Amino acid sequence: MENNKKGFIDVLVGLQWGDEGKGKNIDELLLSGVYSGVARFQGGANAGHTLKYGDMQFIGHIVPSGCLQKDVELYIGNGVVVDIVSLVKEIKELKDLGFDVVSRLYISDRAKLVSYLHPFLDQAEEFSRSKEGGKIGTTSRGIGPAYGDSRARRGLLLGDIIRADFEQKFEGLSRMHMSFLEMYKEKYGFEIIPEKIEEARVKWLEALAEVKKLQICDLSFLVQKRLKEGKNILAEGAQGIMLDIDYGDYPNVTSSNTLPANICLGLGVSHTVIRNIYGVIKAYTTKVGGGDFPARIKDEAVEKMFQERGHEFGATTGRARMCGWLDLFAIRYAIGLSGVNKIFINKADICPTDKVKVVTGYKIGDKVLQEFPLRLNEVTDVVTEDMPGWGEANYGVNDKEKISPALVSYLNYIKDKLNEFEVDIVNVGTGPDREHSFDWDL
Ligand code: GDP
Ligand code: IMO
Ligand code: MG
Repeated sequence: MENNKKGFIDVLVGLQWGDEGKGKNIDELLLSGVYSGVARFQGGANAGHTLKYGDMQFIGHIVPSGCLQKDVELYIGNGVVVDIVSLVKEIKELKDLGFDVVSRLYISDRAKLVSYLHPFLDQAEEFSRSKEGGKIGTTSRGIGPAYGDSRARRGLLLGDIIRADFEQKFEGLSRMHMSFLEMYKEKYGFEIIPEKIEEARVKWLEALAEVKKLQICDLSFLVQKRLKEGKNILAEGAQGIMLDIDYGDYPNVTSSNTLPANICLGLGVSHTVIRNIYGVIKAYTTKVGGGDFPARIKDEAVEKMFQERGHEFGATTGRARMCGWLDLFAIRYAIGLSGVNKIFINKADICPTDKVKVVTGYKIGDKVLQEFPLRLNEVTDVVTEDMPGWGEANYGVNDKEKISPALVSYLNYIKDKLNEFEVDIVNVGTGPDREHSFDWDL
């Protein structure tokens, strides 16, 4: 008899500027046993997703966040720009932690290869921007140049690496990259250090030899096969909606579409298989890199308190993250774009002040904006509302009945402010560990 069961895909994305705690929530969602695989569909090793339970901690940049759960398949979709040096390093780190992921990791043959010169081009482009205006403050992982090559139709795909003409294509592209670097040197004085380039090339070629042994396949076919088998898959967004290349504060964005809409393109599935869209926020906001940040906490001492208590230092670059109040104006924009129906709120244990502010609107001069602005540097002020703070008493609490009344009011307030969207706040995080959370609106 024909099997009519059909699987579905749930998507999880960050609704702010990244680092909302997506990795932790993916890991938690997988514990339900509903999903047989986790898929990255955009971005690259600019992501840093922290997984933690007990003494175990792992930060994944390119390996999907199902890596610490032994039966879960791991997929890297065609929409991803793959840093093979990071990939090989993470596979080894996981092996040392007791997780052999090679047999359950599948990479699309259409995924884009980050070449050893892409990070140098990323740095060179940033260097030129610093001379001519503002830096974006990228992660220096070569994301922009790799997506640029892909769009210019000269990039390399994972599926190329086993083909006879790979070396020729790779050397041709490398020569072109070197000529770009020479241009940055001539025009802006960007320093090219040949030893560093050679070192990167050697490391990259070593990683390439390892990657040839991995399962590089028609991932769209495999994912569709799994769905036909009745298996469900969780798609793991990287970055956040506010960093989307089309809808973020261009050019202070990443180079991929972070919206859930991109899952169809970045994994090779139809929109009809998508079921839930989970959106993750923090109880406040953080942002790393350049560009304007209207919700930023103005009092430096208070911002520092959030930074320190919340350990707001980048999982990829170690940079201090700027801290802001919860920005409901941006979150409403992000929900509208992404169609989120379920929300996770993390870091509800971090509240170092007696009072917190919530940003409910942006202003340009006297005008309160209805629409999200094209350019955040034109925003002159924000509209805020005050709420009582709740201290850090809620750290590690995993029972909804045991949280402080001020946090209950805060959660109800958020729900109320988002009521037009029919979203449920399903889970609230009170610490970095997979056990540190409670269900809320279920
Ligand atoms: P991602 O990029 O969205 O996966 O998030 P990151 O891993 O870059 O940053 C989130 C940080 O917050 C990590 O250090 C997590 O361990 C930590 N974290 C996640 N949820 C919570 C929470 O509810 N409370 C606290 N205190 N830390 C959390
Ligand atoms: P996860 O998945 C926070 C930011 C960079 C920079 C801009 C462009 O851990 O949430 P890029 O290297 O992508 O060209 O940098 O985007 N950025 C992130 N910020 N979390 C991330 O990922 C980020 N990935 C990129 O800081 O401002
Ligand atoms: Mg991160």
